[in-house]
Amino acid sequence: MRGWLVLTLGATLLCSFAKDYKDVVEHPDASAILEQDKLPPPKRYTMPKGCITDDPDAIARGRYIFHNLNGKKAKTPPPKGLPRFIVVNGKKVPKQYGNCVACHNIEGAQGPGNVGPDLHRYKELFIDTGARDYAFVYQKIADARVDNPTTHMTINLTTGLFTPKEICEIASYVVSKKEE
Ligand code: HEC
Repeated sequence: MRGWLVLTLGATLLCSFAKDYKDVVEHPDASAILEQDKLPPPKRYTMPKGCITDDPDAIARGRYIFHNLNGKKAKTPPPKGLPRFIVVNGKKVPKQYGNCVACHNIEGAQGPGNVGPDLHRYKELFIDTGARDYAFVYQKIADARVDNPTTHMTINLTTGLFTPKEICEIASYVVSKKEE
């Protein structure tokens, strides 16, 4: 009985606070901001010709994009042909990388996340077995919503985060044969 009283009193107090709070805090209309953040609709892509390559420089760039967050946070210098900073609207900003390792495990991953499937031995388990092909991997990295509308994966090409060439380099890394 006492418990109920305390609970009811507490709830009443809380409600009255909440009411006061509502009166003093502004409620700006955020729809313009939300509109800005809205993703463009899912897009299906054709994989460019010669996309998947065994060129070690391209794979090194793909690997670096996979394992790093951005050009400022990266602890080792990027491989040849991949900038640390880019210029956006006249301002020098760190280049955004993929940070795929936040969700996926793969060979050599440091503290990988497990939100997405394990991409360890991807060539042997997914490509060589015919379970997946290159076009699937390209589309998945470019815009995963096409085959999974509720995916938690980042959208990398439709958002303009990466160029088709960079998507090819990341895909080339994912499907490459790797040392343990
Ligand atoms: C926020 C978490 C997250 C991030 C970051 C992320 N992924 Fe994913 N990824 C997922 C999830 C979840 C799936 C499984 C669902 C799906 O297929 O959409 C997935 C699926 C995949 C697949 C398909 C595996 C298969 O054969 O079924 C590949 C390949 C892949 N991701 C590569 C990448 C690459 C490369 C990056 C970085 C550019 C990346 N992911 C970033 C969450 C993520």
